[in-house]
Amino acid sequence: MLPVFDEGVPAVLRGVGPLFETAEVFEWIKQAHPAVRANTAHDKIVALKRSWGLSPDDFHDPEAPQPGRAAEIYRDGGMVLDASPFLPTPDHDTFGDWITDARTRLGGEFCMQAPGLECASWDALGRLQALLHPVLRQTGPRTYRYNAFVGDYRRTPFGFHLDPHQEGVFQYVLEGRRRGLFWEGLTLSHEDAGWVEDTNGITSLGREPELVLELEPGDLVFWPGTHLHGFEAEGPSMGLSMVIDRISPRRREDVVAGLVSSTLGGAAALPPAISRAPLTVDDVVERRGPFSLAYERCDDALIIAVRGRTFDWPEPASIPAAMRLLDVLERHDGGPLPLRTLVDRCADSTLASEEICEVMTMLAELGYLR
Ligand SMILES: [Fe+2]
Repeated sequence: MLPVFDEGVPAVLRGVGPLFETAEVFEWIKQAHPAVRANTAHDKIVALKRSWGLSPDDFHDPEAPQPGRAAEIYRDGGMVLDASPFLPTPDHDTFGDWITDARTRLGGEFCMQAPGLECASWDALGRLQALLHPVLRQTGPRTYRYNAFVGDYRRTPFGFHLDPHQEGVFQYVLEGRRRGLFWEGLTLSHEDAGWVEDTNGITSLGREPELVLELEPGDLVFWPGTHLHGFEAEGPSMGLSMVIDRISPRRREDVVAGLVSSTLGGAAALPPAISRAPLTVDDVVERRGPFSLAYERCDDALIIAVRGRTFDWPEPASIPAAMRLLDVLERHDGGPLPLRTLVDRCADSTLASEEICEVMTMLAELGYLR
């Protein structure tokens, strides 16, 4: 999954599964989205009784999973204001039973979006984390979640749309054939706003999709937040999205404060940076002192800390190579380290040997190397 994420364009991975089963995802939806949670009337009844000094039985199990956002059901391009009567219940033995029942009671095609399914069980969360771990290691902390799209609908109910708040989505197809349509969002103009996010679904597409992927159960499709996207489905369908948001859940100042303290072993007054001649590949360096250097991803930046000072890595394209370089440095046992060895191990098409020498010079100036 990491190479596809790094490539940064929509793509499909075939034969990676089975990653999930329809029956288990259907159970996760029931666990995370009981009807009682989708309707605020229950809370208001409890609040009213409490305000009169009564101690009503709460409708909510305090131990019940908390998905963060309620499930949404769409019918004819509009969101059904109260989804609770149409959610799956323990009486629906199979996904197919529920589809038939909901379609009958909603009077036709419908789509449900069920977010936050990772709260259904530790197994559900663990598998999401195992799958996304390589990507999250590269992006740094992100908000991530499952988001199931289920129903019997012909087109994404909120239209072909952009999700600029998302880093990317991996969607596993469990039921039904679907067609993914994609456009590079950065090429869109104001004129395109007339057909993008057409929730009525009656405006014709303003331009042909740049990429169409035909998908079937077992496929894992990826698209980055830069791409306009939507799906056309045939018959009952279930897709389980694994969504990674763009913005780090941590504030930059908190990240910097943590890095400063970890690379100084606490807090201390710092001597000035050391002025020295640039290092070359013929030099040999050695670590100075016991404390490590550290780095963290924060939003799009790679923040590097050394001896209580921090700086941002200047070139986004070489961030993965920079992380590998810093890992190699940190794992070194502390004895003499020829820069030529470091260059041989870490230089690549994004990170030239001269740039490695420049970084080492900076680390020497900041007191990490001598
Ligand atoms: Fe989306």
